[in-house]
Amino acid sequence: MKFFIDTANIEQIKEAQDLGVLDGVTTNPSLMAKEGITGRENIEAHYKKICDIVDGDVSAEVISTDFDGMMEEAEHLAALHPQIVVKIPMIKEGVKVIKKLKEKGIRTNCTLVFSPGQALLAAKAGATYVSPFIGRLDDISSDGVKLVQQIVDMYNYYGFDTQVLAASIRHTQHIIQVMEVGADVATCPLQPILGLLKHPLTDSGLEKFLADHRKAGEKVGAAK
Ligand code: E4P
Repeated sequence: MKFFIDTANIEQIKEAQDLGVLDGVTTNPSLMAKEGITGRENIEAHYKKICDIVDGDVSAEVISTDFDGMMEEAEHLAALHPQIVVKIPMIKEGVKVIKKLKEKGIRTNCTLVFSPGQALLAAKAGATYVSPFIGRLDDISSDGVKLVQQIVDMYNYYGFDTQVLAASIRHTQHIIQVMEVGADVATCPLQPILGLLKHPLTDSGLEKFLADHRKAGEKVGAAK
């Protein structure tokens, strides 16, 4: 399973990259705005900066909603760097854009997916990734992980190439849950990724190992 970090924050991207397990980055217009990145030139420069830090795919989202506007933005974004994957919203025009970009060899991430039917359309159109938003479904008392499972099963059954990218992950347990149902990618904020490290038995076990090592050293020292 691939790990993407879901942020436009350069320090957090560097910290995840330093860990050595990062496979890519996803951003969206809200995440860019959170970092105060505005204006086409600044946004494009930020994407290039992110591509220079990480080795894998970097999702960059269009902000147009009409066919021509999305196509123009998508081709421009894709030309910025070979690691860019263009994020297209799951709307009628978006499906057409994904299909056209596939024909042109431009990779896409179909975003804002909340149902198996939407995921079917994304795969039929030839999206590289599909992004079911699990946290936002959980927020409205629906089951985000179940949607990931439905999409994984459907894609496996029909042999679609589209990779299932579990998005809108809110906590560490979400990562485990989407792994259990076979998601290809989990895109997560930094904290849930770091949360995977934690176990109290690791901490207490390490403490005991080090204490035993110190005690043994003291005994040898005293015997001399
Ligand atoms: C990533 O591709 C999505 O845009 C992101 O995971 C959405 O997360 P949120 O629901 O926490 O805003």
